[in-house]
Amino acid sequence: MRQDKNVGKPLDRVDGRLKVTGGAKYFADNHMEDLQHACLVCSTIASGRIKSIDTKAALHAPGVLDVVSHLNTAPAPGYKQPDGKARRQLRIFADDRIYANGQPVAIVVANTMERAVYAASLVKIQYEQEVHHTDMRANDKAAYQTDRMKDYVRGTTDAWKTAPVQLEASYSTPIEVHNPMELAGIIAKWDGPDNLTIWSKTQGVKNSQVALREIFQIPDQNIVVHSPFVGGGFGMALRIWPHEIATIIAAKKVGKPVKLVISRDQMFTMVGHRPAADQKIGIGATQDGQLVGITHEAIASTSTYEDFTEAITSMSRFMYACPNVNTRYKIVPINVCTPIWMRGPGEATGAFALESAIDELSYKLGMDPLALRVKNYAATDPEKNLPFSSNYLREAYEMGAAKIGWNNRPANPRALKEGDWFVGYGVSTGVFGAHRGKASAGAIFKSDGSLVVQSATTDIGPGTATAMVQIAADATGISPNHIQFQLGESTFPDAPEQGGSATVSTVGSAVHDVCQELKTKLLELATTHIPDFKNSTPENSTFENGYLVTAGDAGKMEISLSDILQKSNTPVLQVTTTSKAGDERKKYSMYSFSVHFAKVHVHASTGIVRIKHVVSVADSGTIVNSKTAASQMIGGVVGGIGMALTEEAVLDHRYGRYANNNFGDYHVPVHADTPPTDILFINKKDPVINPMGSKGMGEIALIGFAAAVSNAVYNATGKRVRDLPITPDKLI
Ligand code: MOS
Repeated sequence: MRQDKNVGKPLDRVDGRLKVTGGAKYFADNHMEDLQHACLVCSTIASGRIKSIDTKAALHAPGVLDVVSHLNTAPAPGYKQPDGKARRQLRIFADDRIYANGQPVAIVVANTMERAVYAASLVKIQYEQEVHHTDMRANDKAAYQTDRMKDYVRGTTDAWKTAPVQLEASYSTPIEVHNPMELAGIIAKWDGPDNLTIWSKTQGVKNSQVALREIFQIPDQNIVVHSPFVGGGFGMALRIWPHEIATIIAAKKVGKPVKLVISRDQMFTMVGHRPAADQKIGIGATQDGQLVGITHEAIASTSTYEDFTEAITSMSRFMYACPNVNTRYKIVPINVCTPIWMRGPGEATGAFALESAIDELSYKLGMDPLALRVKNYAATDPEKNLPFSSNYLREAYEMGAAKIGWNNRPANPRALKEGDWFVGYGVSTGVFGAHRGKASAGAIFKSDGSLVVQSATTDIGPGTATAMVQIAADATGISPNHIQFQLGESTFPDAPEQGGSATVSTVGSAVHDVCQELKTKLLELATTHIPDFKNSTPENSTFENGYLVTAGDAGKMEISLSDILQKSNTPVLQVTTTSKAGDERKKYSMYSFSVHFAKVHVHASTGIVRIKHVVSVADSGTIVNSKTAASQMIGGVVGGIGMALTEEAVLDHRYGRYANNNFGDYHVPVHADTPPTDILFINKKDPVINPMGSKGMGEIALIGFAAAVSNAVYNATGKRVRDLPITPDKLI
């Protein structure tokens, strides 16, 4: 009897109980002997130099061990290495320069957190202030391109201007801040001058290890990074940040372990953000809706000390079958912390512009916006000139349209009303590269029948360990109850950060491969040590329900996997495998696709938008866990509601300071903002990308969503809002 497949099932999260009962230990939950506490002192100007730091009062405050700044510590040794590039990450304590308001300039260490916070308030800093720019729009003359952001042209530049039906429009999106529940921070502990252990909030334990190796010039094996639980990330924990380096330097200086948890307002200035962007789209089509040309130009903000780029204009190059496309993307330096990827980085910004423009064009054509998309469906990738490894977009459009009741959509705006509320429907497409990186996984199988699989990936919330258990269960025939997947430790086999929607594809492939290797080894043990199975081969044998089953001359024989270990006198069988993509990427273009539908109500006199129903359809290959995958998609919708309706980090340009740096004023959607949300999956295996056939999902859950809302708002009201977020004042 073959056992049921585990992949695809809605298995409960293997760590769910730990998480909801408080048993999961996040970095800040760790305690150790002699642990000290830190508080950052941050710049109150946005550009200039530190003239002096008066630490006298702070040093005399109770419980204070030290106040560390560039004045009393050497910069990290790696910061002295010449790198030939001026534009690079902020080098904490390297000098007296201030690049942004809220930049960490000193760190206070005390024996309690409260004492550290109090002492930090006593540090007095004098500055020499210089002119700052925090308004990207006002500073757009400073826009530049790096070597990696070349203009793109296919066919004729600006061909849209020759089309019978044309549209040109500008879209803007504000700085958004990730704001996961868990605050950023670190515990740093030195053992002697060269051995460093950290517990930190990171999406990549190996990334942190490598960064620390470079910055502190100590070998990998002397650096241990723990991050077994992460309370949300969205991209903010994809790199090591200056506050972590500051804490590590302080821990070394005071000779004790030090913990830092940054505050909510510091989350706005310390750990990146989605950059602000201004985009212009020119788009043209024939009278019957065949696209003639697309021009997509964008500027987006970066810091004054580092280049940050993302894929803002990429989607416009291949999303639709269009012969003429040109894109241009530049960045503008402003006096804020360097941005970082935020869920659907670049694409979410670009999709808002492109998918709004497609909608606007559909009204000019008098055509259903869904029909316009289907008409211009790209059957092959027009940018790379390659077939897609899989692309079920047309089915996704159909499935979603049926579910939301697209037939009820009024063709003309402002045509449908329920009481005081205008009713409208919108649709939008999302896309993100389906990636597969290189990863290793280790399998430890014991004679009690238990399997532990390890890999140095992390889990920022999607339920990684649960998916990996399901993949391992199907690959080995061992019950999920007997499998544990461990992650978040730099000592585990190498794996990339959790980012770019690639973990199931990358680490799942390694888990799949290490399980194949484990079966090979088990079969070897059986043929060598157990006479009945001496003729077992991969061809005549299967692994089911924890047994090796061989079809021999005398019929079917079976032996439990734990018996194989016992009979071969092998207490533990351990294998490690490294897995990476082949050259299929040269032959195929690989993307995940999503289609978002939104039905909205807009209040006629107040302009309040209520999203009434959402349908999101994902073409992300094989669904490994239908429950966690649906949660992942719902999470993207919630983030998308924030992007569409409420999220905006407001800078007071006089001071270069965020005016709404708290949960009271920076509005993220709450339960009451989240409508009934139907998540539909195509759930068809991608035949190329990896052994599971699964494509990524984290980013496409959000990408495009804001345009679906904005398009629905237009359908409801006849008002086109091109500046996110769509707040009520823009609708009255
Ligand atoms: Mo993400 S922006 O891949 O954490």
